[in-house]
Amino acid sequence: MAPKVTKWILLAILSFVMKPEILIQGQQQVPCLFFMGDSQFDNGNNNALLTTAKANYQPYGIDYPDFPPSRFSNGRNIADFIAQFLGFAQPIPPFATARGSEILKGVNYASGAAGILDESGRQLGDRISLNKQLLINHQITISRIALSLRNRTKVNEYLSKCLYAVNMGSNDYINNYLLPQYYPTSVLYTPDRFAEFLIRRFSGQLRILYNSGARKVAVFGIGLLGCLPQELARFPTNGSACVDSINNIVQLFNDRLVTLIGNLNTNLPGAQFTYINITSISSGDPTAIGIRVVNAPCCIVSATTGQCVPNQVPCSNRNEYVFWDNFHPTEIVNLVTATRAYNATVPSDAYPVDILRLVQQ
Ligand SMILES: *[C@@H]1O[C@H](CO)[C@@H](O)[C@H](O)[C@H]1NC(C)=O
Ligand SMILES: *[C@@H]1O[C@H](CO)[C@@H](O)[C@H](O)[C@H]1NC(C)=O
Ligand SMILES: *[C@@H]1O[C@H](CO)[C@@H](O)[C@H](O)[C@H]1NC(C)=O
Ligand SMILES: *[C@@H]1O[C@H](CO)[C@@H](O)[C@H](O)[C@H]1NC(C)=O
Repeated sequence: MAPKVTKWILLAILSFVMKPEILIQGQQQVPCLFFMGDSQFDNGNNNALLTTAKANYQPYGIDYPDFPPSRFSNGRNIADFIAQFLGFAQPIPPFATARGSEILKGVNYASGAAGILDESGRQLGDRISLNKQLLINHQITISRIALSLRNRTKVNEYLSKCLYAVNMGSNDYINNYLLPQYYPTSVLYTPDRFAEFLIRRFSGQLRILYNSGARKVAVFGIGLLGCLPQELARFPTNGSACVDSINNIVQLFNDRLVTLIGNLNTNLPGAQFTYINITSISSGDPTAIGIRVVNAPCCIVSATTGQCVPNQVPCSNRNEYVFWDNFHPTEIVNLVTATRAYNATVPSDAYPVDILRLVQQ
């Protein structure tokens, strides 16, 4: 978090805190909503997998009254808030348990530890990579929708009206490139070449999504990974609030992603891709919204995994923390991110448009 003071986050938060009716949209703004991503969107897809990247135990979800909790936060995640802002009465169900006609409203494929590259996150166990989310699970959903609508033209029309939100890439860094003891990528690629390599893969994947009928796609950039408590514990910061070298190599990916989004919009007929700029959204002074702790987790974390230790009592002032565990933001930060992705507070929050304008155009 940059120490620069802005009041924008404050205004965004206050408008929700003071006027909660804004959260309750009368009508669904899109017929369907699909999420592809990692732990920032995952709402239960990893529960039955053999992996340590799980959130189905206390104290995860302590502010989300559901069992098992299944969210990598104390409460709602970004996907929950976006569904809410778009007028969905219920969260979008995880692919692992979505059944019957509910899939017509969309499916959440996200999986903790997953990446653009199939191998990212491997050292934690099983995960559903972006390739698997797209090439297997989403295709299964499309064939189920086709069975239900019974007309290919109708299916394509339907899929083109949905919103697709994609949040991928963090694990290709924190659970790949930045772990040379497990992955050779940092030996094989300079930061610049690695960003280029990831973007080439991501480009192919976003084209597959387009070829699977998607037209309105919000692609989240990678956040300030150098500010994660996990990285602050691993690397010296040299007087800075974050590990700047990590933020710098991630920025190489984000810069290329912006160019990719522009190219997709130019080259694919009818494509409406947009970039959600987490760098912009997370800049500003967190104390303006009452956040006091930016560099330590709220729950008691395991020294090996950086996730919450089961059944330990977390901090009680959760709205004063940016981080819930060593990797994942608290619900209050997820609210800010989703709010600004949906309705940009400053123009740099989204490029070319925010989600609100994306679903209207
Ligand atoms: C399929 O749906 C399209 C668009 O809704 C419609 O024009 C067409 O007549 C339908 N075809 C059949 C065989 O029902
Ligand atoms: C720390 O910062 C100083 C000044 O910017 C720079 O000269 C030095 O190389 C940095 N050291 C490390 C280890 O990054
Ligand atoms: C993203 O946000 C950063 C920080 O505000 C800004 O420097 C950059 O230009 C933005 N990118 C886009 C594509 O708007
Ligand atoms: C978007 O945010 C602006 C203030 O930045 C507010 O006036 C407007 O009502 C918001 N629109 C929606 C649909 O939430």
